[in-house]
Amino acid sequence: MEPNWNSHFAQRTQRMKGSAIRELLKLTERPEVISFGGGMPAPEIFPVKQVGEACERILANYSDKALQYGTTEGYNPLRQMLVNDAVKNGLSCDLDNIMITSGSQQALDLLGKIFINPGDHILVETPTYLGALQAWNAYECEYYTVKSDEHGMLPDSLEEGLKKNPKFVYVLPNFQNPTGISFTLERRKKVVELADKYGVPIIEDDPYGKLRYEGVDIPTLAQLDSEMRGQSKGQYNGNVIYLSTFSKILAPGIRLAWVIAPPEAISKIAQAKQGADLNTSTFNQLIAYEVGKDGFLDEHVKVIRKVYNERRDVMLDALEEHFPNSIHWTHPDGGLFLWATLPEGNDAAELMKEALKENVAYVPGGSFHPLGGGENTMRLNFSFSNPQTINEGMGRLGRVLKTHLH
Ligand SMILES: Cc1ncc(COP(=O)(O)O)c(C=O)c1O
Repeated sequence: MEPNWNSHFAQRTQRMKGSAIRELLKLTERPEVISFGGGMPAPEIFPVKQVGEACERILANYSDKALQYGTTEGYNPLRQMLVNDAVKNGLSCDLDNIMITSGSQQALDLLGKIFINPGDHILVETPTYLGALQAWNAYECEYYTVKSDEHGMLPDSLEEGLKKNPKFVYVLPNFQNPTGISFTLERRKKVVELADKYGVPIIEDDPYGKLRYEGVDIPTLAQLDSEMRGQSKGQYNGNVIYLSTFSKILAPGIRLAWVIAPPEAISKIAQAKQGADLNTSTFNQLIAYEVGKDGFLDEHVKVIRKVYNERRDVMLDALEEHFPNSIHWTHPDGGLFLWATLPEGNDAAELMKEALKENVAYVPGGSFHPLGGGENTMRLNFSFSNPQTINEGMGRLGRVLKTHLH
């Protein structure tokens, strides 16, 4: 009998569609293509020497731990390092508030696993991080969307959404993926207050908070929530589940991230993680600890900021120079992406086919919109390519747009 795999797959896999965009992005792997598509860090500034030295030290001194299974919550010295960093940055928490995950992407999936019943609604920005939608679609959720402007979620729209009793609200207040937009302090406070008023948990996803090139740092939602509750010392017991990652401050290849949340939520995430992978790679956790324990990452982040700041500026200048004036774009103060909006009626996914003929790529914005729309938008990454390549690629893209835009 000819096996019919499709008939065996679970109901929930119906929502796991491979996107047409992913198929297009596969073409960007051709070496001649300049891709502004992925969200990749600049490989030339990976701290190769520090990682190499850490590996040697680990194998010489801690191989019994590094090559062994570990606890699901993570390697304690690394967790403590992250507690110290959070406290230094103004969020009071302790070891029971922290767990390590295999990338923030795993944290998003585990949160789906512990929170979402089929048919539950999640309140999200639109556009929002595609990877979160992919993780949660598999748990058969639906979405309510909140309207935003250049300062973040609009409070009235947020309140309207919260009244509908979503399972949680997902927010990216710093240099959002995909738009690059950050929430002002007022808007952050509003999110915290309103979520508290309606008893809806917040998931705050913050991979880019340390990558600010302009302006001053603004407290995270977790910080504001703990302030609002008067929890300036000890354990965090508020309403926010905060995610961050080593992907953009060390290297994404080690697949290492962390969650800060009230202990009750941490325990439930840990139970879910046991069924997923038992523990995050112990070896990689020791690498992050060895590399980070004496403050190297704070120094390294300064290098990353300098390099990406320059690349962002080069891309912004190139946009001015090469893009038709009917296109608008964001001016992010940090992060990895900016977001361009073409005149209504243009389809960025269709234009991508023309762009690929000219060996340049981006991500069409439609798929970041959980309820559809945004076909006339595109996400551009400025961290991966060097300035010369950015200029060349933006020149190509500008020519494509000038020829095919209507
Ligand atoms: C907003 C957001 N969340 C989560 C992730 C996943 O990060 P990680 O590499 O830690 O899995 C990314 C990666 O780009 C992201 O942009």
